[in-house]
Amino acid sequence: LRQKYLGLIGAAGDEAALEEVRLAALGKKGEVSALMKTLGKMTPEERQTEGPRLNALKDELNAALTAKKAALGDAALEARLQEEWLDVSLPARPARQGTIHPVSQVMEEVTALFAELGFSVAEGPQIESDWYNFDALNIPGHHPARAEMDTFYMARREGDNRPPHVLRTHTSPVQIRTLEAQGAPCRIICPGRVYRADFDQTHTPMFHQVEGLAIGKDISMANLKWVLEEFFSAFFGRPVKTRFRASHFPFTEPSAEIDIQCSFEGGTVKVGEGDGWLEVLGSGMVHPKVLQAAGVDPDEWQGFAFGMGIDRIAMLKYGIPDLRAFFESDLRWLKHYGFGA
Ligand code: PHE
Repeated sequence: LRQKYLGLIGAAGDEAALEEVRLAALGKKGEVSALMKTLGKMTPEERQTEGPRLNALKDELNAALTAKKAALGDAALEARLQEEWLDVSLPARPARQGTIHPVSQVMEEVTALFAELGFSVAEGPQIESDWYNFDALNIPGHHPARAEMDTFYMARREGDNRPPHVLRTHTSPVQIRTLEAQGAPCRIICPGRVYRADFDQTHTPMFHQVEGLAIGKDISMANLKWVLEEFFSAFFGRPVKTRFRASHFPFTEPSAEIDIQCSFEGGTVKVGEGDGWLEVLGSGMVHPKVLQAAGVDPDEWQGFAFGMGIDRIAMLKYGIPDLRAFFESDLRWLKHYGFGA
């Protein structure tokens, strides 16, 4: 019996099999237990020799069971460790990281530079009523500027009597919205998307502008020139001269188009050197009618506004010849200009 059960214990492959062996030997109906019950019917002499023998057998089997159980536990743990083994020294596969789009990058830079000059950021909707986009900016219905701007009009159903809406053609409506909301004095920029039906090497139907507006008691074009030269010099990392050319916008009087100093040698444009000029923004003193439309008293307040093409200055800064490439999401292009991961 001893040989039989020691053999079975040794052969048990897992804890369940081991438990079966235990029950067969030492369980209530086990073989060893049955032998123990026969002790009662023995003579005292027989019991004296058989009793210790049976107890010793029982103890030996119990000890063997305990030892085997521990061994099986160790083996199970070892197997699990083998199975769950990880080589943490294996180098990770390189994950391709996204990057900030050049236009977003330039927008952030522009915002940060104007923040240093005391301008906060204002925003307005890209779908704008024609009142904010045109009328309030002194562009009445018959004005040729409406046709010139190649406006996208929102489709209207029969019987829709909401005011007509457009995709904003410039960021200037934010001048009105901000003055209405905050009043004067005021010093804001508004970077954002604008839309015009135009498409060639230097025009895309969606592009980016940054509007600037500074209203106070005695703000002048001289302040505008200083602010812009500070900005351009910081943006291009070298002193940049500006040139003001008399121009016309319905919402400013007087108005000026502003060029920055450039050289054009060898087909590349370099800002801040040479004797060439490149137009980068429209500007002027805010027209009294515009202040009035926004609820600001033009006898008390005055100031400048400007609108600058963000994509345009991004092209200049990074030497990018074709505006359309900005919006084609070609990773090879982004990488070539140093924007890819
Ligand atoms: N809104 C004008 C444009 O888009 C630019 C501009 C802004 C001009 C502010 C003067 C003042 O062309």
